Amino acid sequence: MSKLSHAQWSSRLTFILAATGSAVGLGNIWKFPYMVGDSGGAAFVLVYLLCIALVGLPVLVAEWLIGRRGQNNPANAMSDLAKSVGQPRIWMIVGISGILGAFLILSFYSVIGGWSLYYTLSSVTGAFSGQDADGIGALFNGMLGNPGLLLLGHSVFMLLVIGIVARGVTKGLEGAVRTLMPALGVLLLVLVGYGMTTGHFGEALGFMFNPDFGALNGGVVLAAMGQAFFTLSLGMGIMMAYGSYLGKEVNLLKTARTVIILDTVVALVAGLAIFPIVFANGLDLDSGPGLIFVTLPLAFGNMGGGVILGLMFFLLLTFAALTSAISLLEPVVEFVEERTPLSRVGSTLVAGVATWVLGVAALLAFNVWSDVLILGFNVFDFLDVLTSKYLLPLTGLMAIIFVAWVLDREGVRQELGLGDTGAKVWTLVSRFIAPLGVIVVFISSL
Ligand code: PHE
Repeated sequence: MSKLSHAQWSSRLTFILAATGSAVGLGNIWKFPYMVGDSGGAAFVLVYLLCIALVGLPVLVAEWLIGRRGQNNPANAMSDLAKSVGQPRIWMIVGISGILGAFLILSFYSVIGGWSLYYTLSSVTGAFSGQDADGIGALFNGMLGNPGLLLLGHSVFMLLVIGIVARGVTKGLEGAVRTLMPALGVLLLVLVGYGMTTGHFGEALGFMFNPDFGALNGGVVLAAMGQAFFTLSLGMGIMMAYGSYLGKEVNLLKTARTVIILDTVVALVAGLAIFPIVFANGLDLDSGPGLIFVTLPLAFGNMGGGVILGLMFFLLLTFAALTSAISLLEPVVEFVEERTPLSRVGSTLVAGVATWVLGVAALLAFNVWSDVLILGFNVFDFLDVLTSKYLLPLTGLMAIIFVAWVLDREGVRQELGLGDTGAKVWTLVSRFIAPLGVIVVFISSL
């Protein structure tokens, strides 16, 4: 994203929409519920909320601040800011590892985008109608076992992302996000309403909010931290890039609070839509990445108007995935554009095709390559674990350390508009709690 091709955000509202569009995606609706299911419920939710408040919020603010001060792409912004305070330019590595993370995430993100496309079609053809849990499970497993189908979905999804990014249609996206995101919210609420009719809503509530601390361990905490970074699009330079188009008058803390609340509400509501169906049908809580694809179609297949609702839901899910995927491809494209003589369109093609190729390896993990393991993980899981558990938290850690310890304290305090008490809290959280939190989680997981 060179500054020449992108103006400033037209208003604080547009910025909130864009940042929320990046943040709200498959991470909220697909990933969060299955992680809750895999990790034993409420204890995970609690740790996740703590990570969001004590680590996610300060890192989000730090990334925006770096972007707004640097007025440049993440790698250059980091290197310029470091130089301005007499530090080595090697800090640019934070920007670069972010770009690498974005590339790796998009490769498997697009595979799930493809699932969502396939399910959009399946709801129209009535594939869910009257099915029981076994039928829906067979549909899902049939898809996973079919490399051609996965390839088609992944390819179409990537083509959409490439097409949008190549044209750089920020404006069109902003407009779309403005109407489609609220629509997604309403549909999720409709599904929660359906969940209430199953007679298992209370059980779902208890599962999500009544913690069993016996279920907590280092792995669960690390997963919660990783999810906090993933869902807020942190540790990838994305929020830095978005911050670089941000006007001086925007209050970073307030804006971060808004984006975080929206993102968290979507994730929690998605959980409340899904778990009643899981309990009502005796499905496996820990069915992993397939969770929403084996629960929601059951509801759609057995409720009045299910065809329409299913169609709308998967369309909107695809859209939420697209707005996030675009923000993932952008930093990679920008990197290629600035480091090679290629044009915008050429850079988008190169970055997009490279991502697509890696995505093909990820989708083969579900079938042909299910025996190919890297450090004990299949390719898909390896990409996920490498990024959400390691790359993103480490990159985010460096960003917060940079803002809290390396940049001038007084300037940061003024930029955040903090009074005396606020400054003390910010210092405590940004210098100690957030960085130590990430470090402790790492060490305990090793
Ligand atoms: N935050 C997005 C989601 O929750 C995923 C994402 C991660 C998007 C990183 C951009 C960057 O789906």
